[in-house]
Amino acid sequence: MDEIYIKVEASRHYIGGSDTSAHKAENIAKKLQHDLIIKLQQRGSHRGWLSDASDSPGQTISVEDICKLWKQSEPIVLSGFIDSNGLIEQKDHIDQSYRLMNDVLNDEECNELLYQEPYFSRLSNRFEILSSIYDENDPQAIEKIECDVIDGDDVVAENLWLKLSWLSFVEEDASLRFRFSFGLESYEDVAADPDRQQYAAEFTEAVFPESALISHNESLKQLLCKVLDVNEVSYVERIVFFNAPEGGAQFHQDIEKGHQGVVFAQLRGRTGWLTLSKQALIDEIQMFLSRPDASLLMQAVNDCEEIEYLYAKASDNISLSAYLDESDNDPLEKLINRLPAFAQQLVERGHVYIVNPGDIVLLPQQDIDHCAWHAVLCLDDFPGEALSFAVREYS
Ligand SMILES: [Fe+2]
Repeated sequence: MDEIYIKVEASRHYIGGSDTSAHKAENIAKKLQHDLIIKLQQRGSHRGWLSDASDSPGQTISVEDICKLWKQSEPIVLSGFIDSNGLIEQKDHIDQSYRLMNDVLNDEECNELLYQEPYFSRLSNRFEILSSIYDENDPQAIEKIECDVIDGDDVVAENLWLKLSWLSFVEEDASLRFRFSFGLESYEDVAADPDRQQYAAEFTEAVFPESALISHNESLKQLLCKVLDVNEVSYVERIVFFNAPEGGAQFHQDIEKGHQGVVFAQLRGRTGWLTLSKQALIDEIQMFLSRPDASLLMQAVNDCEEIEYLYAKASDNISLSAYLDESDNDPLEKLINRLPAFAQQLVERGHVYIVNPGDIVLLPQQDIDHCAWHAVLCLDDFPGEALSFAVREYS
């Protein structure tokens, strides 16, 4: 018989915009008999207050329904998929990773930290660190550590790397990520080299052994094999995130050649997710722009020409879809990432989730037009930790 999973229910209680005081928001939440009040705040932009019935039981979801949602490129948020025993077993590693993140925030060099315990024992005899690079052309980059993989006297894989980057340029946002890959960044067809992908995965496990909460999770493997209709899965192109107050990721997708989607696991702290399929996001944008109060857009895009341009781009599905994919789409970027009224619409229409430690998010990424878009916000006053691994058929 198929397993039944518990899904995280979308939070639908938007209780006030950025002009609502914390005190008033708390009172409204109390009247709703909700304990939890959440501020949606990122990069200096306050998008309003949510409340959540923290004790509300999640609804069950079958594997069949998860497969259906995946095919429709809809995100799936599952509650407590990593059980509390798993988190307890990995607690020392998660605590150690928090110290590593803090040391990096305190300007210590990661490559030097990797020569110290507990990293030295985990890496030596297997990963030979060759260099540490500071890329002046990439202002988000903190440090890139390159290594070879050795087996006895043999080098079995070359030019693996661990790259540490800030998630934004905002001074108050300390969010950072540790990304593991290999070869020439943005040029190498990493999917064509599954062996080195596996070595990069092994490198991740050596630095962050709590990766096992995804990579050695039998239930997750079984679920993903059914979802992807494959016999075995690999977790590749791994990233460990530390989303900090004011930080997280703005709306984006994770399309990359050679993988079918991404699995995200929250290990420490909470994140707020605004996530939906690309088509649903297009529908939401068009719906917002057709609202009688769409002039609220001026709160984020204070430029009539830009607004006119946005309306022209949003006039049909194909041009709006292409505009979403452009890197230079300022008015649209402001609408989806900064406007409280748009955040409210997403909340009330069921596209916002509170993700707690042990919860996972499945993000289908079939192709540029069929993928789950997502924005991730830190909900605590301390940085949390999360794993974000791409998924592909094992080969
Ligand atoms: Fe992502």
